[in-house]
Formats: sequence, C-alpha cells, structure tokens
Amino acid sequence: MDAEVTPPILEARSLTRRFGGIAAVRDMSLSIAPGEILGLIGPNGAGKTTMFDLLSGSVRPSAGTIRLKGRDVTREAAHHRLAQGLGRTFQIPRPFPDLTCTENLLIARQNQTGERLFANFLASRRIAAEERAAREKAHEILDLMLLTRLADEPARFLSGGQRKLLELARVMMADPALILLDEPAAGVNPSLLEVLIDRIQAINARGVTFLLIEHNIDMVTRLCSRLIVMANGSLLCEGAPDDVARDPRVIEAYLGGAAA
Ligand SMILES: Nc1ncnc2c1ncn2[C@@H]1O[C@H](COP(=O)(O)OP(=O)(O)OP(=O)(O)O)[C@@H](O)[C@H]1O
Ligand SMILES: [Mg+2]
Repeated sequence: MDAEVTPPILEARSLTRRFGGIAAVRDMSLSIAPGEILGLIGPNGAGKTTMFDLLSGSVRPSAGTIRLKGRDVTREAAHHRLAQGLGRTFQIPRPFPDLTCTENLLIARQNQTGERLFANFLASRRIAAEERAAREKAHEILDLMLLTRLADEPARFLSGGQRKLLELARVMMADPALILLDEPAAGVNPSLLEVLIDRIQAINARGVTFLLIEHNIDMVTRLCSRLIVMANGSLLCEGAPDDVARDPRVIEAYLGGAAA
C-alpha cells in the first residue's frame, strides 16, 4: 500500500520520555502504513523498547502525541489501545508457566461476558457459547502458529522459540490490526527462526500490520521494506534496509555502541 495516500494506522509525533534527567526517547516521530512491516533498529539502550512502551500505553510520554487509526490515544490506557487493535509482545515473553498453551490463550482474550454480567440462565448459556467460541479460536490460532502439538502442554515446557510463537499467538487472540514485536528472534534457534519469519508473513498476509524491533539484521531485511533507526533516544535515519545498512551514521552508531 502507498504510505502517501493511505492514512497511517499508527502515528507518533515528537514523542519524548524522560526518566529522571535522561531522555530515553527524544522527539521521536514515526508513521506506520496499514499492511506494512516496519522495522525499528538501533544499538542497545537506543530507546526502542521505551518507544514500544509509549506506543502501546504502558508508559506515558513526557511530551508528544500518538494517533491510532486517526484517533488521539495519547492518554488512553494500554488495554483500551489493545481493544482498538494495538497489540504488543514483550522482549522477555511472560507466559503463565503452569498453564497449558491453550489456557494461556484463553486468559488473553478480551471482553468476556462472564466478567461483566451476573449469572442468570441466559447469561450462563451465553458464557458457555463464548467459551466454546474462544476455545475454537484458540485452537485455530495455535494451529496457525504451528503449536497444536503443544496445546495441552504447560508453557514451562516450551523452548525459547516456542515461547515467542506462543507470545504472538496470545496477542492474536485480541484480533489486533497492528502488532508491536519486541525482538522476536532473540533466543530462537535457526530452524524455529524460519518458522517465525514464515508465520509473521502469514499473519501479515491476513492484513495485520507489524512494527518489529530486531537485532537480527537478516530477519529485518527479509521482512521489512522500510527501517527506522534510533540511537541515543532519537531518530538517526530511515529508509530501505540496504541503504540503511550502508549508511555511515548507522555503522558509526553500532560501532560506538559496541566499543562502549
Ligand atoms: N523505567 C525506566 N527507568 C529509568 N530508565 C529507563 C527505564 N526504561 C528505560 N530506561 C533507560 O532508557 C534507555 C533506553 O532503554 P530501552 O530499553 O528503551 O532501549 P532498547 O533500545 O530497547 O535497548 P535493547 O536493544 O538493549 O533492548 C536506557 O538507557 C535505559 O536504561
Ligand atoms: Mg529493548
């Protein structure tokens, strides 16, 4: 899709977040077109995860605005943004270790009638129907993520890579239009990495937009047509992966980080 004519699904303008005297994010703006997979890269401590915290609503900006599907959500809580289609995964996946994969998905779903309504006969029938529908949806999503074989296993038995797939499956339960992925490839073995890339492409083909933080440059290059580079809390540059990889400012930022 053309970013010039299509209104952005998510737009951040001049976001700043200070922690004490330090600006973890400083005057950051970005715009994500519907259907795109946008990459967000930068050395350790650049402010990438803080940017996700701001966009998803777990941290409030010191300054700046965030628009989701054209609406200002800067002051809205994370669960409201999730209900409007903005989902995220965490750098360190946090499944409930003693719950099965299916159960981990069922507790992730939104707007359960059972939590809102007192139990009369009609409500209990509705709850039973919702329960069935949710289980069906959980099975479909586990299937999509190639986790069906592990559906009834406790999450603690999963490998690092399988946890990343489960984390993505949990977000999918909320029917997100946009998913923020924080380092999905970290700790994932090479064969499962191929599965992860393939699954992200499959979900994207269903119309879901992604913003991807990733240090694995091979993965970023394969998935993204556009990259944003952060360093020291600010935007360093943006462009096509090949151009960004050759940009002296980017090389300098990474080498500077490695030397520090
Ligand atoms: N809650 C907080 N309180 C104080 N400082 C914080 C907080 N969260 C982040 N920071 C600081 O903000 C800066 C950016 O951190 P952030 O985690 O956003 O970087 P990152 O780009 O995600 O790095 P990495 O690639 O290592 O995950 C760091 O200096 C970090 O110490
Ligand atoms: Mg991070």
